[in-house]
Amino acid sequence: MKTKHVIDLKDMSPDELIQLIKLANMIKENPADYADACKGKILATLFYEPSTRTQMSFKTAMLRLGGSVIGFDNPQNSSVSKGESLKDTITVVGGYADIIAIRHPLEGAAKVASMYSAAPVINAGDGGHLHPTQTLTDVVTLYNEKGTLSNMCIGLCGDLKNGRTVHSLIKTLSCFEGNRFVLISTPELTVPQYIKDVMIASGSRFTEVTSLAEAMPMLDVLYMTRIQRERFANQEEYEKEKGVFVLDREKLLAARRDLSILHPLPRVDEIAEDVDYDSRAKYFIQTIYGMYARMALIVTMLRHPDKTPMPRKFDTHYVRCSNPRCITCTEPYLPRLFHKAGGDMLLCKYCEGRTLI
Ligand code: CP
Repeated sequence: MKTKHVIDLKDMSPDELIQLIKLANMIKENPADYADACKGKILATLFYEPSTRTQMSFKTAMLRLGGSVIGFDNPQNSSVSKGESLKDTITVVGGYADIIAIRHPLEGAAKVASMYSAAPVINAGDGGHLHPTQTLTDVVTLYNEKGTLSNMCIGLCGDLKNGRTVHSLIKTLSCFEGNRFVLISTPELTVPQYIKDVMIASGSRFTEVTSLAEAMPMLDVLYMTRIQRERFANQEEYEKEKGVFVLDREKLLAARRDLSILHPLPRVDEIAEDVDYDSRAKYFIQTIYGMYARMALIVTMLRHPDKTPMPRKFDTHYVRCSNPRCITCTEPYLPRLFHKAGGDMLLCKYCEGRTLI
């Protein structure tokens, strides 16, 4: 793997991704061969936001590889509660651990960690932005269930605005030939512009629709997501969106026999429980694939450890990112970094939000 950190799977080529999937499958088939693969190595899991699957599967992955785990799952039990900056925490932990997995409620936080950590950093979810190891989980599941990552009609349903798993999955599957996306949401929760730009740039076809029932017959894959209550400004706005899309057995009558139903979980009410017994429901096996996917990622990243001393100096822009959920809004020491997006538009290098000069 060419990149030291995994902040966005777009930094990985499709070939590298397929190699990781194959390694995950090899580990699944021959776990004893990998029982000491990370002996003597330490994973730090820094979870500033709640998690069941990601945190536990990272920990389990490292323990099954013979390594050890340190970290916190509640920042209130760490010196973050005393006001320590992300930069300082990461600088310290990067000296203790061989590899770091970080989840944070603010967009761009994992990129910040990668700027100041001597140890490789894995993005375990940064606000409503990206969640690359969930996507790794999803593509291992799809590769095993469908036999391909190309030429599929993929429906994504629910909170497409705040769903970081949706953003990472679209970015990744856009790199594979012939995929078509059906984006099923209310007009308030459509995918952000930077995700549309990815599909446009890759030539992937996509349509935005508001009916799950109408989309159902054309889908090879249905990726359900919950409405992300924690990303809403208030309870009233969340209540308007909650319960709009519910997958149940009746809706499945119109679906293909070879449909694969995925969900990153946790589920709230968007998939009826009786769907769990349908052979097309893959969301619990998906969680198992997630552990092997993370084992493959850790083994690969630790194969060529790069502990280059940090920090580096960065040039800062005079403009501030206009996204209030961007990490740069709460960690004022951060350099303001942008790509030019044409005309007077800038694209924040942390959160991908657009800002006018
Ligand atoms: N899919 C996922 O990220 O689940 P957790 O929030 O439980 O980690």
